[in-house]
Order: sequence, then structure tokens, then C-alpha cells
Amino acid sequence: MTQALHEHLMGFAKDLTAALRALSERSFAPHEAKTLRSFSAGEASYYLGVADGYLRKAHHEGRIPEVGIGPGGRRKYTAAQIHEIRSVLAATAKNPDQFRPGRHDLAKDEMQVLAFVNFKGGSGKTSTAIHAAQELSLRGLRVLAIDCDPQASLTTFFGYQPEIDFFDGGSFYDVIRYRDRDSGEGPKPITDVIRKSCFPNLDLVPGGIQVAEFEHETPAALSRGELPVFFDKIRAALQVVKDDYDVVVLDCPPQLGYITMSAICAARNIVMTIIPERVDLASAAQFLNMAASLTEVLHENAGVGLFDNFRFLLSRFDTNVATQVDFASFIRDLFGDAVMKAAFLKSSAISEAGVSQQTVLEVDLSEMRNRKTYERAIQSVHEVAEELHEMLQANWGRR
Ligand SMILES: Nc1ncnc2c1ncn2[C@@H]1O[C@H](COP(=O)(O)OP(=O)(O)OP(=O)(O)O)[C@@H](O)[C@H]1O
Ligand SMILES: [Mg+2]
Repeated sequence: MTQALHEHLMGFAKDLTAALRALSERSFAPHEAKTLRSFSAGEASYYLGVADGYLRKAHHEGRIPEVGIGPGGRRKYTAAQIHEIRSVLAATAKNPDQFRPGRHDLAKDEMQVLAFVNFKGGSGKTSTAIHAAQELSLRGLRVLAIDCDPQASLTTFFGYQPEIDFFDGGSFYDVIRYRDRDSGEGPKPITDVIRKSCFPNLDLVPGGIQVAEFEHETPAALSRGELPVFFDKIRAALQVVKDDYDVVVLDCPPQLGYITMSAICAARNIVMTIIPERVDLASAAQFLNMAASLTEVLHENAGVGLFDNFRFLLSRFDTNVATQVDFASFIRDLFGDAVMKAAFLKSSAISEAGVSQQTVLEVDLSEMRNRKTYERAIQSVHEVAEELHEMLQANWGRR
């Protein structure tokens, strides 16, 4: 019997949504807030940018606040204590700027917007975005992470279940939405949806399935002439918090839709993640082509689409696979300095931690049997974050 497809699909969708909600409510409720582990002296020194012995000496001389003692009589530092020590050092050190990695003069040092893009699904955008966001926050930058993806994987790293927690509202959609012609309801300021995280310097704007509405609603809003236009939505939304953060990290969905275009137009720093594989390179060429034509139109008609940095990042790079090593060199030869020197290496530690919505920076290594694997993954994260950090510092005219 021939049936209307939409009714059939709608039936499945309703049943599945209800069943999934019931399942998650049962297995995860009540909502457990994430907590952050404490850090070793070695880690604290790393994030403060000092040598190991420096902290020991500073504690001994009473120049910085004392911290808790962990197993084996070793000092352990909370993220908040690391930040507190950084401000004490900034106030007392010979070279205070060494301990002031963020913006100094809010009028002169602009808030930096950094977008991770590629329409290839699974190329490592979210993994890179969350690790970079956490690491930059530990290094003392005030970071806002925005989940621009209806799939909302970035949001899950903050301990949320987007399909439940932001089903009816509270996501980025509320900020970028258009005005409803019947109810008159319009966009909310971004500050209404910002969530604190267990990282003291890292906040989140959650994603969620509602964000997908933006793609459907944009054509009608364009024809009505509603302002701001889609490409200016994110940039305009960020104006409200332009003094509150040093860097905004945008995790884009795997498509080149209106929201990704809006992110690209808001970001002066764009990182395109590429897995060094033939299929990924082919789709990268396609993405670049499409992005070029779309930004050309926007640039010519609206004068937008300027940038400071566009970098390729080799992601999920498996150095044990010969073809990946070859393709990595191929990309480096082709694009030269546009390719980040650091690569985000493929590691079972990243995917293993990811299963419980954690990054490798959150995991307590003393509990891990495959500690070496984690340490290698963390090293790769450090290198990627260091290069991004340098890029931001250069944008502020330092180093
Ligand atoms: N460096 C890595 N090592 C191992 N696994 C990784 C690495 N980076 C990402 N992954 C895994 O690959 C999968 C896809 O990664 P991720 O979600 O970061 O990609 P994405 O580009 O954001 O995907 P999407 O396009 O769906 O948003 C995840 O399961 C993640 O755990
Ligand atoms: Mg993603």
C-alpha cells in the first residue's frame, strides 16, 4: 500500500525520540555536574610556563599561596589555584607579561575568534576544539566555547545531554534565531545561554538539535530582509561579550551551511582539520572550492569575509600508516606554512577518553594502565595548543 512518506517518517521520529529520552533519563538522571581533577606540580608549571623547580622555590619562599598535598606528599593544584598563582606572579614578577597571556588593553587587543571547520564529518573538529579550549583556558586565557553543531558533541564534553538539557531551549539557537512573526519572540543576548564549566576560565554556549532550524529559517528571513543577515549573526551576538573573553572557539557542523558561513565571517582565525587520507583530501578540495565561491559573493556584496589566519591542521593523523605519512608530506609540500607544524595525532587515548565525554587533559593519569599512550596524546595536544596560543599572541602583537 502506498503511503505518504512524511507521515511514516514522522511516526518513527516521534517513537525514537520518546524512547531515547526515556532511556537517557533512566540511565543518566539525576544530572551529575562534572568536576575537574587536580594537577601535579609538573602540570601546573607547564600551564604557568615556568620550570619545575620555579614553583617549589616560590612556595618555599612564601611568594605564592600554598596548595593541597596529595598522595606521596606531593603538591596538587586545582585549576583555580593555578590561576591564582598566575595572578600573584603577574603582580610580583620582574617580567609580569610572562604571566599575562590574555588581552591587556581591551580596546587594543581584540577578542580573538577561532573556528574549526570542514564539511567532512569526523575529521576531528570537535576533538580539536575541546582540547584547544581546555588547554588555552588552563594557560590563563578566558575562553568561550560555542557549539554551532546541532549534533552538539562539543556540549557533551561539558557533561550535558543536549537532547534532554537543551531540547526546548537554552542553546545557541536562542541567540542566532530570527524573530517569530506570530509571537514576536526574537533572539536573546548570548549571556542568557552561557554556562560555566568545571574549568574556571572556560564557558560554554551549548549546541542542540534546535540549531538546525537556523538553516531552514534563513532563506525566509533573507527574503523578509531581517537584520542582522545570517553571515553577521554570530559576529553581532559576540559583541555583547567582547570584553569578557580572550578567545572564542567555534566548533562548526560538518556542512557548509548558513551557520558555518556565519562562523567563518565571525572568525578571523580559521583552522581546517584534515585527516591525511585520499578521500579526505578530495573532499577538502571540494570544501575549499565551495567556501571560496560563497565567501566571494559575501565579500563582494557585503564586504565581509576578512581573516588573519587560515591554517590546515593534520588531524587524527596515524603516523604508523605509511599512506598517511605520505599524504601528510604531500599536504605540507603543497600548502607550506599554511599547514600547522603541530599535528593532532591519532591516539586510542583520545577516543577512549571520548567515550566517557572526557578529554585526555581531564583524565587522572595515575589511574591509567596505558599511561604512556595518554602521555603521548597529551603531548600532541600541548603542541597543537602551543601553536594556536602563539598565533593568538602574534595577533596581539606579542613575540
Ligand atoms: N586524534 C584522535 N585520535 C583518535 N581518535 C580521534 C582523534 N580525533 C578524533 N577522534 C575520534 O574520531 C571521532 C570523530 O571526531 P570528532 O567528533 O572530533 O570529529 P568532527 O569533525 O567534530 O566530527 P563531526 O563532523 O561529526 O562534527 C570521535 O569518535 C573522536 O573520538
Ligand atoms: Mg564535531
